[in-house]
Amino acid sequence: MAVIIKTPEEIEKMHVAGRLAADVLEMIGEHVKPGVSTEQLDSICHDFIVDVQNAVPAPLNYRGFPKSICTSVNHQVCHGIPGSKVLKDGDIVNIDITVIKDGFHGDTSKMFFIGKPSILAQRLVGVTQKAMWKGIELVRPGAHLGDIGHAIQKFVESSGYSVVQEYCGHGIGRGFHEDPQILHYGTPNSGLQLQAGMTFTIEPMVNAGRRNVKLLPDGWTVVTKDRKLSAQWEHTILVTPIGYEVLTLRKEERQAATG
Ligand code: MF3
Ligand code: CO
Ligand code: CO
Repeated sequence: MAVIIKTPEEIEKMHVAGRLAADVLEMIGEHVKPGVSTEQLDSICHDFIVDVQNAVPAPLNYRGFPKSICTSVNHQVCHGIPGSKVLKDGDIVNIDITVIKDGFHGDTSKMFFIGKPSILAQRLVGVTQKAMWKGIELVRPGAHLGDIGHAIQKFVESSGYSVVQEYCGHGIGRGFHEDPQILHYGTPNSGLQLQAGMTFTIEPMVNAGRRNVKLLPDGWTVVTKDRKLSAQWEHTILVTPIGYEVLTLRKEERQAATG
């Protein structure tokens, strides 16, 4: 399948979808606290997306996924299914939001701390977020996908952690998962060269221990084999004529970027 270059009209719709996905993460923050279950978080996000945003939660019924968001707690790597699990002090959780608005997808996730997590958990989450940004900052026309994967992998491994290789970022637009695949590891100067008008996600999964993962019998939840912690952050990115634009940027990040 070929990589779809978006027209200006399509890019405007991607801006809207990206903004809505970011808004869901901003909305849910105050609810992510000890005592809340992941299915309660799912229900709050579902209702906000459907009733307030007049949008569609993309995960719901996607290839049989039963809920509207993904919640991946502690050693869960990605695609955790919201359920009766109650969040407790010291947990870390990734909340992954994908919305469809006017036919286009916006996809973004962030890590939340419940109470006060361990120093290790805090460092893992920070390294993973920084790894995502090291990849994003290389996005510009002419850059190779291998440059992005390499930068992420080098930073993660030099920090003593490992990059999950079985799951990757992806082109996004009318499709939830379009070409190309965005690997979070790789070799500089190799792979596809970026062009203005491409839209894709960067969403590294980083493990505190070994990179190996396994799929739970529910068919969705991915966990670390060694049961050590895992973290993930995700943004939807547009390649612009001079570099990149983050379509799912949150207010807290805009403030960080402008000092
Ligand atoms: N949002 C995830 C991603 O970043 C995909 C979730 S698929 C689902 O690509 F079915 F689990 F929702
Ligand atoms: Co994604
Ligand atoms: Co996602």
